[in-house]
Amino acid sequence: MSKNADTYQSFVDTYDSRSDEMGWHVPGVIFGLMYMHLRPGQTLLDVGIGTGLGSVRFHKAGLVVHGLDNSSSMLDRCREKGLTAGLVHHDLADLPWPFENESFHHAVSIGVLHFFGDLTSLFSEVSRLVKPGGIFGFDFFEHATEVNKGYRKVQSGVYSRHDPHYGGKVYRHKESYILGLLAGTGFSVLDDTELLASWEKESCFRIITARKLHG
Ligand SMILES: C[S@@+](CC[C@H](N)C(=O)[O-])C[C@H]1O[C@@H](n2cnc3c(N)ncnc32)[C@H](O)[C@@H]1O
Repeated sequence: MSKNADTYQSFVDTYDSRSDEMGWHVPGVIFGLMYMHLRPGQTLLDVGIGTGLGSVRFHKAGLVVHGLDNSSSMLDRCREKGLTAGLVHHDLADLPWPFENESFHHAVSIGVLHFFGDLTSLFSEVSRLVKPGGIFGFDFFEHATEVNKGYRKVQSGVYSRHDPHYGGKVYRHKESYILGLLAGTGFSVLDDTELLASWEKESCFRIITARKLHG
């Protein structure tokens, strides 16, 4: 996994308004897909919570939200919103993540997986932390060889290129790679949905919700 220093420091003031202008609908879609599986009072871990855009609906639905992120500036902005019960400054590349097994009913990771090539540890950690029967909702940039020019294969199912916007590498993944990881870490897919991004023709998000199976 790649380390990602506080790249977001320069984006934090405009992150929420820019997401709104761009039509960043992924948090709403993930919440909508997960809603029927949630109960007020249950706990949710938001992996790469940022300013909390992905968690705000879960908070309003009565879930107790905890978040992990390695950007102090994004966490500070999130904290100001008062929608979380706990925020931990932690790099997702540092294992294990600082929670006991099965600490949370559900988890989300929204707008985060493209920072990591090999996602084995991320899925293993989510699986370790989510209770059996819980839901994991996330999105990823799907790689399609015919349209995603400039990406280099780094391992089976994983492609990368340098991104001047973030000043580092970004990754796209094959759907089969992600489905393999879910199966290998004890998740069963509930929904697997494609969402086209309006701002970039070759950007196709795939949104997946999956249930953690009983051991
Ligand atoms: C595009 S933002 C998404 C934020 C939020 N989930 C949302 O839906 O708006 C990506 C977030 O992932 C965090 N992130 C990226 N790499 C990380 C890493 N290695 N460890 C922890 N957080 C990371 C960034 O700091 C940022 O807050």
